[in-house]
Amino acid sequence: MDDLRQKYLGLVSRAADEAALEEVRLAALGKKGEVSLLMRTLGQMSPEERQSAGPKFNALRNEIDAALKARKEALADAALDARLQAEWLDVTLPGRPRPAGTIHPVSQVTEEVTAIFADMGFRVAEGPQIESDWYNFDALNLAPEHPARQEHDTFFMARAEGDNRPPHVLRTHTSPVQIRAMQAQGAPIRVIAPGRVYRMDMDQTHSPMFHQIEGMAIDRDISMANLKWVLEEFFTAFFGVKVKTRFRASHFPFTEPSAEVDIQCSWVGGQLKIGEGDGWMEVLGSGMMHPKVLKAGGIDPDEWQGFAFGMGIDRIAMLKYGIPDLRAFFESDLRWLRHYGFAALDVPTLRGGVNR
Ligand code: DAH
Repeated sequence: MDDLRQKYLGLVSRAADEAALEEVRLAALGKKGEVSLLMRTLGQMSPEERQSAGPKFNALRNEIDAALKARKEALADAALDARLQAEWLDVTLPGRPRPAGTIHPVSQVTEEVTAIFADMGFRVAEGPQIESDWYNFDALNLAPEHPARQEHDTFFMARAEGDNRPPHVLRTHTSPVQIRAMQAQGAPIRVIAPGRVYRMDMDQTHSPMFHQIEGMAIDRDISMANLKWVLEEFFTAFFGVKVKTRFRASHFPFTEPSAEVDIQCSWVGGQLKIGEGDGWMEVLGSGMMHPKVLKAGGIDPDEWQGFAFGMGIDRIAMLKYGIPDLRAFFESDLRWLRHYGFAALDVPTLRGGVNR
């Protein structure tokens, strides 16, 4: 018995892992283990012998069993310690910052406007920001000697020495996209063209680069009445309140007749409110497309007619979201962008505002 005790307590203490420990357990206490076989000899003993040997055998079995359990726990503790060492983590460290940008109000409003016009069947058309003199002016009935050209404060590109063709320009409005869209698609057509435009001008309400959105619908019987409905529908959807419009007779070379459009607003306590009161705010130019413009776009003015309008995107963004200074739009001041910017998931709706 002493030999068995020595042997198995030694093996238990030297077992390096759970598998080794299990082998030791089987060799001692398994069905055919040495201690189990010893216990079985009790059956052949006389009652007296059994009385003295029984408790000793039991004690031996219990001692080895207890040693196995203790060793098993010690091995598990050691394994846990090793893991805790390896997987150590300082939960007091600050988290990694995840910089989240914002959607610029101009991008947001462009999306909103596009969504509303798309709902009325307008597709988006595009044109280059560096535009030829012909597309920016001539095709829109602004001949080289036309006085309105001066009002555009145009940025001109440089021509090579001795090249006397008219220089390209940074487009002064989105109207040249009308011509490009007509040439590309013909009639009937319904498009809007949002984009950047450039004029040499800079103060609280003007920036040398700003944004416009052009609209154009051509069909056999399009009229001013369609224009008025489309615009009122648009402003009401955009501002989320019923907005009245006022058409004032005006003049643009590319439309006849022409109208400047004001929207209803009120000034109360220095606060501007759209869609109420008896004030008016000018927001766009519009009219029935001039026959010469249709022709320049390759469309027969005897067969087709259309309306067009052009509107400042930055302007209506300022009105809708109460942004006072246009210049701040393009200064890239992070504090301004965080304040006025939109979260990426603020999806524009057709009824004004955003889904947050
Ligand atoms: N292109 C004009 C501007 O930049 C705006 C404009 C007026 C566009 C009348 C139009 C229009 O399409 O019909 O001032």
